Amino acid sequence: MEAELPIVLDRASPVPFAAQLAGRLREAILEGTLRPEHTLPASRRLAAELGVSRGVVVRAYEQISGEGYLESRGSAGTRVAVRFDGRGTPAPKAAPKPATAPKAVIDLTPGRPSGEPFRDREWRSAWKKAIAGPVQVGLPPASGMPALRAALARHLGASRGLTVDAADIVITAGTSDALQLISTALRSKTKGPRILVEDPGYPTARRVLSAAGAVVEVIPVGEDGAEASRLDALGSRPDAILLTPSHQYPRGGRMPVQERLAVLDWAERNHVTVLEDDYDSEFRHTRMPLPALASLPSNAEVILIGTFSKTLSPWLRCGYLVVRGTAGERIKRAREELDTPVSGILQSALADYVDGGGLARHIARARRQYAHRRALMLDRLGTRDGLELAALDGGLHAIIRIGGKVDARVVVEEALKQGVCVVALEGYFAEAAPENGLVIGYGAPSDLELARALDIITAIIDRMAKGPGAGPT
Ligand SMILES: Cc1ncc(COP(=O)(O)O)c(C=O)c1O
Repeated sequence: MEAELPIVLDRASPVPFAAQLAGRLREAILEGTLRPEHTLPASRRLAAELGVSRGVVVRAYEQISGEGYLESRGSAGTRVAVRFDGRGTPAPKAAPKPATAPKAVIDLTPGRPSGEPFRDREWRSAWKKAIAGPVQVGLPPASGMPALRAALARHLGASRGLTVDAADIVITAGTSDALQLISTALRSKTKGPRILVEDPGYPTARRVLSAAGAVVEVIPVGEDGAEASRLDALGSRPDAILLTPSHQYPRGGRMPVQERLAVLDWAERNHVTVLEDDYDSEFRHTRMPLPALASLPSNAEVILIGTFSKTLSPWLRCGYLVVRGTAGERIKRAREELDTPVSGILQSALADYVDGGGLARHIARARRQYAHRRALMLDRLGTRDGLELAALDGGLHAIIRIGGKVDARVVVEEALKQGVCVVALEGYFAEAAPENGLVIGYGAPSDLELARALDIITAIIDRMAKGPGAGPT
């Protein structure tokens, strides 16, 4: 049923039309006037009725979709996603079934982006075109389809300031696949390559590299990532070093330009291949991104590892490498030998989506959503005693450091019992002394879910801080 919306915008108000419209829609949902059986009018029609541009309506729909009040169902329109009872509280659902239906979990595991792209019209149309294309019976080219490599080269030029030749791009099935490929490419006849990784760092990278035969060693890093002085002090040189210079994972800092140049200088002098994990540099919330290591003037061999897991979804299993030098040649050769694990249809659809500007538009929308959730995190946690909020400059995760006697691991267990899945900061440390805290992924939950989850987590922390004997939350 299409909703009748008696909305009047205040043309004299300084509040932008999109914000006014989002506010009216939110109110109507909270009052229970708009309910899940309602479809909202198509943006073009509502825009004409209100006498505003279509972009105003699209922005308002996006805003409250991001808050979890609406969901887009592609060609079936935009629907109300939640039912409120008129007093601004969620109406009770139908009586729970006897026995135990699994409790809905709000998942704050980091690394999960918003599910929006799969509802994007341009995304669906790219897939339709890919499926309707000429039937291919052979294998996709090992390093990736030329159309996707060319589209990515243009995209990286515009979005990351990287001057890249399409021939230097190798399509992968995501970062984990890239690390296996690199490990294979860099190994000698008798042993796997020695690869230095950050501590704290990405646990999956440690696991995947070891499983692929690399000898993994860790180097302690500071808030802003690796430091050239520590690298200079190393007794022996590794074959490669894996870094997250644009957004240290998980601490969130970024390596200053002088440090970047010093690390490249060390790598060049010691013939170390630099693996630059550029996993979420598209999402900067406060400052401009710094240039990628791969774009700085240096003769060091830098391999940039990119992924669609944050910009689109890890469900796709697709990413890319920007390669150069002899390490790049070895990687391309290894890809030929191993063959590509990436589907040709997926590559065709992605090429169309990237080239048509769909990806850039999706990233711009997602950036607004994440900025909104970041503001929500700051609002709820920014000034609480005993908690330090960090890693919020970019990306889709934040860190909460917990002081005092509250053990983050116990908070994780308690939160799960109350339907919130969150991870402890401790698991990111390999050898360095772990910090007590939580890593919160805020990409996937709606604003409502995030707010609820943060309330649950802070109530648990407050109760534990008061000590044993404090009542249940
Ligand atoms: C540091 C880091 N790099 C890369 C990725 C993406 O991995 P993949 O491309 O294998 O999905 C993640 C995902 O969480 C990550 O945290």
